[in-house]
Amino acid sequence: MHDITHTIERFEHHFGPAHGAKVYFSPGRVNIIGEHIDYNGGLVFPAAISLGMYAVAKETDGDEVVVRSADFPEQEVRIALSKEILLDASTPWGNFPRGIVRYLKAAGYHPPGMHIYLESTLPKSSGLSSSACIECLMAAILEPSMLKNDASRTEMALLCQRVENEFIGVQCGIMDQMSIALGKKDHALLLNTSDITFRHVPLLPGEYLILIMNTKKPRNLVESKYNERLYECRKALEIIQKKKNIKYLVEAVEDDLHDIREPVIAQRARHVITEQLRVKAAVEALEKGNLLELGRLLDASHTSLKDDYEVSGLELDTLVSAARSAEGCIGARMTGAGFGGCAIALVKRDAAEKLIEHVGKVYQEKTGLSAEFYQCTTSDGVGILSEVQL
Ligand code: GLA
Repeated sequence: MHDITHTIERFEHHFGPAHGAKVYFSPGRVNIIGEHIDYNGGLVFPAAISLGMYAVAKETDGDEVVVRSADFPEQEVRIALSKEILLDASTPWGNFPRGIVRYLKAAGYHPPGMHIYLESTLPKSSGLSSSACIECLMAAILEPSMLKNDASRTEMALLCQRVENEFIGVQCGIMDQMSIALGKKDHALLLNTSDITFRHVPLLPGEYLILIMNTKKPRNLVESKYNERLYECRKALEIIQKKKNIKYLVEAVEDDLHDIREPVIAQRARHVITEQLRVKAAVEALEKGNLLELGRLLDASHTSLKDDYEVSGLELDTLVSAARSAEGCIGARMTGAGFGGCAIALVKRDAAEKLIEHVGKVYQEKTGLSAEFYQCTTSDGVGILSEVQL
């Protein structure tokens, strides 16, 4: 458990008395299944997790939002509310609050002056959505009315995605922001990205847990590879649309692949089509309590991401195959964008410790890297935890 008194102390050190300040938490997310289909109109099945970012925030009379982060103790991000807000490469992490303030204003909101101190338990660059986590946190702090209900939370997620797409410049889908805005403890979110409708599905598995395994591989090129996949999918869609009236690639069927001449483009489309089917089957299996089937689908998803979509790699493959070979594990796959980041394993609770030992050892031998493991729980979406009454 994170010690919030420490975050409050740091706030006071920089900004003075915290009395009346609010404490917020924004979760990270893990995707159970439905990978790389949120920008193809697909169904995805992520869950918000108990690792995330805490904030202590207090409104001021000033016309600046001032943000500090435990991760960058030397830096202070000051955002003047009355001036034009631009990217600033000297503090890249500050571009998230900058983008949120700018887009809130553009949407007609009036963010107030604010002092904010951030402290994170979410491993950085791990593919657990630290960007969407800080975006939603900032939106919640600066426009708390967005926390009111599902509709306003959906609006929040869409605004955060726009910041990521247009201001930060990463062409992500809507999955991460929606999981963080609308997460529910003990549930995953079955999200239809074609019309942004969703329902919460109870998770889990009594004697099983979902273990997160971090490759700790330094990630680079993720964005360019991600965009490359996005364009490959668009190309596949355009080809199929010449013969068939569909809006999204997930509406295609495997037979449509015959029209695609370039093998790589056909492969990408096959992943998208089959992954959509796996999501439907996985949710059905989970609701029927058929965890062995769920595990089998996780395995199949990984194989498809590795062979057809080609977003895995030595590190993720090693974690996944070592986990599968361990006793008590009934399925494993990479999660998130890929090219490093994290994988998940569906494992018997009482076998988790042994699995961690086994996978850690095999992974170290094969890659020279030390993996990290998190047995976290699911979490509610971003929200206010308490008010500081010191
Ligand atoms: C990243 C993106 C998401 C999604 C996943 C892959 O996390 O931000 O929108 O596309 O990759 O499923």
